[in-house]
Amino acid sequence: MPTRREFLGAVAAGASAAACAGPGVVRSAEAAASLSAADNARDEDFWAEIQRAYSVDRSAINLNNGGVSPSPGFVQDAMERHLRFSNELPSHNLWDVLQPQREEVRVELARQFGCDAEEIAITRNASEGLQTCQLGFDLEPGDEVLCTELDYPRMLTTFRQRERRDGVRLVTFPIPAPNEDLAAIVDLYRRRLSERTKLILCCHVISVTGQVLPVREIVALGRDRGIPVIVDGAHAFGHLDFSVRDLDCDYYATSLHKWMCAPHGNGMLYVRRDKIGSLWPLMAAPAGKSDDVRKFEEVGTQPLANSLAIREALAFHKDLGAQRKLARLVHLRDSWIDRLTRHERVRLLTNVRPGFAGGMAAFTLRGVKAFDLTAHLWKVHRIKTSWFRMGEFGGVRVSPHVYTKPSEIGRFCDAMDAIIRGGIPS
Ligand SMILES: Cc1ncc(COP(=O)(O)O)c(C=O)c1O
Repeated sequence: MPTRREFLGAVAAGASAAACAGPGVVRSAEAAASLSAADNARDEDFWAEIQRAYSVDRSAINLNNGGVSPSPGFVQDAMERHLRFSNELPSHNLWDVLQPQREEVRVELARQFGCDAEEIAITRNASEGLQTCQLGFDLEPGDEVLCTELDYPRMLTTFRQRERRDGVRLVTFPIPAPNEDLAAIVDLYRRRLSERTKLILCCHVISVTGQVLPVREIVALGRDRGIPVIVDGAHAFGHLDFSVRDLDCDYYATSLHKWMCAPHGNGMLYVRRDKIGSLWPLMAAPAGKSDDVRKFEEVGTQPLANSLAIREALAFHKDLGAQRKLARLVHLRDSWIDRLTRHERVRLLTNVRPGFAGGMAAFTLRGVKAFDLTAHLWKVHRIKTSWFRMGEFGGVRVSPHVYTKPSEIGRFCDAMDAIIRGGIPS
């Protein structure tokens, strides 16, 4: 990991250290004093440089980065460069020149995820990787698949289609928000298992609340009974500081256009090497490719510009450092939570104790519908948040990113103070 000063020098020059120079080329005259991640999280000079790497619209405040995030300018530049090159001589530049470079992306993704490159497929988003797993196991009528009611709606839809098509049964159960006890969560899964359970889907980070689940324990629960566990990591990679070894899972899919800030339309699927052969791909692949992870990428002609620019996004993330990044996200999260929770009508839906959440959290404001609140924040204050239904009033999720300014968090809190005092005109 470069020193802070080396990293900032490179960012100011318009690229991350690794992206612009390769190992060791960007050098500072003297070694920068290194701060702990927690101290660094408060170093506004450092973060001001990171903010400048993004070309976001500052007339709005984007606190919905959990939905989809912007890429730093140099990631967009790389993508545009590849796109222009593709169009100069498509059949040659796209297939002969750029396609082989996807292998370098695979290697770098594997390095950062902590696995072998032969276990990584580059997908178009988390949904594609997850559906590969959800639809890729042979199931019999009456077999059960298990997940929570707070799993991502599209993933529930995928299992519901399997119910209609294959006669399997989807078993879901409620999960508390906030989660106070990780062992109790594992127990909730355990209690729903039956002789017929053939597949479990579990979130690494719950989308609507930002709550982190005890993935390793849920995977172990399934493995003890021979039940595959698909991990929905849409919100975790590039956000939490972990490697696949910490989870010991066999199937993991994530988005790269949320916390990793790769161009939109990027995701990653991890399948443990000895499990690849028995998982069907979403689109047909030749039998000879059965044990090759690339069978999950058989989607026909597709643009390569956005997937190749994953390289720059990964380099930026690596240089920033997963620990440093998470500490900043947590710092931003705590700064709005500290102010909002002074109001007794605000209830936090996320347990933010260390290990239970990253930079995303959700709250509910008694007496105000979440949908009305998010609509008002956007219409009147140009502040983007996201809402979800949970009980009568639902919840509002707040997800800043590394480019978010503390002053923007302050404006969000001011707007909330005004709403809490004066209400929302109907
Ligand atoms: C938990 C979870 N799973 C899956 C997805 C789907 O991700 P993508 O849009 O990258 O397919 C999302 C998107 O927000 C999500 O929050």
